[in-house]
Amino acid sequence: MIQAEHLSKTYVLRERNGLFRRKSRREVPAVKDISLTLPPGKIVGVLGVNGAGKTTTIRMLASLISPTSGSLTIDGMDAVKHHLQVKQQVNVISGGERNLYWRLTARENLRYFGNLYGLSGRALEDRIHRLLALVGLTEVQDTPVERYSKGMKQRLQIARGLINDPRYLFLDEPTLGLDILIAKDIRALILRLARERNKGIRLTTHYIQEAEELCDFLYVLEKGTVIAQGTKEQLRSLFQRPPKLVMQEPDLEEILMEILRQRAGGTAETDRAAGSAAPGVSPEEKTGGGL
Ligand SMILES: Nc1ncnc2c1ncn2[C@@H]1O[C@H](COP(=O)(O)OP(=O)(O)OP(=O)(O)O)[C@@H](O)[C@H]1O
Ligand SMILES: [Mg+2]
Repeated sequence: MIQAEHLSKTYVLRERNGLFRRKSRREVPAVKDISLTLPPGKIVGVLGVNGAGKTTTIRMLASLISPTSGSLTIDGMDAVKHHLQVKQQVNVISGGERNLYWRLTARENLRYFGNLYGLSGRALEDRIHRLLALVGLTEVQDTPVERYSKGMKQRLQIARGLINDPRYLFLDEPTLGLDILIAKDIRALILRLARERNKGIRLTTHYIQEAEELCDFLYVLEKGTVIAQGTKEQLRSLFQRPPKLVMQEPDLEEILMEILRQRAGGTAETDRAAGSAAPGVSPEEKTGGGL
């Protein structure tokens, strides 16, 4: 289980104003006092508008950047102190085409990233073989990545993210820009990784249907803080439209829009229901159930 308590991250920017002026120091509080959990075998979604702090949270949970304050444990181990060990247990998969070497083939890419995790020889080759089959790239494994379509590159990203057989996976918009068929394949794969391989998966996405289909539990971020959390059903209880106007159950997109709209209005009722992190109260206590 990954457990984050009161995590905050403030980026410090040093900017020069004009040629001869001294650099000024500016602080950007990207994440403020976030507490969240990620159990093995579950898919936990994080939703929020651009700049809400989703990627910053992922980068802290994956030990890519250190938090400014707060604590983070992974299976009981202090992840801030032991960030090198943590890197063996986690991996990040982002949407987009970064992190791959285009001149290399799929197999060469995976070999390179496997070496970075200290893997080599037969064990690594076997794992590469299995991963290429899992993401359906066996036939093009010896083709340079520059000749791949976007969907093929994204599937290779997923294989890359699994090369160290992580227990926890952080997916940052994994189906960004993919067509509906490939996105569907990738969603099915994500579900299998959680259900069959018991991986704890934290998913950030702007595709609400994707969150609706995959997530066991959801956090909604706004300006770096958690403004709502719960299962889809629990979030639905925050939906305050009069029942007679509701023709059918609201879908997650409507629920999210309602939560953000209510925040803009800022009613006390909503603030209480959304449960903006009361210190010492676990998500389970706040939402009455949790995962
Ligand atoms: N390296 C950085 N240096 C300074 N500020 C940053 C840095 N990375 C992010 N920020 C700022 O932190 C805030 C949160 O950004 P973050 O990338 O975490 O948001 P996000 O929810 O992932 O957004 P998006 O949906 O656009 O991907 C934003 O105000 C952003 O400008
Ligand atoms: Mg982001």
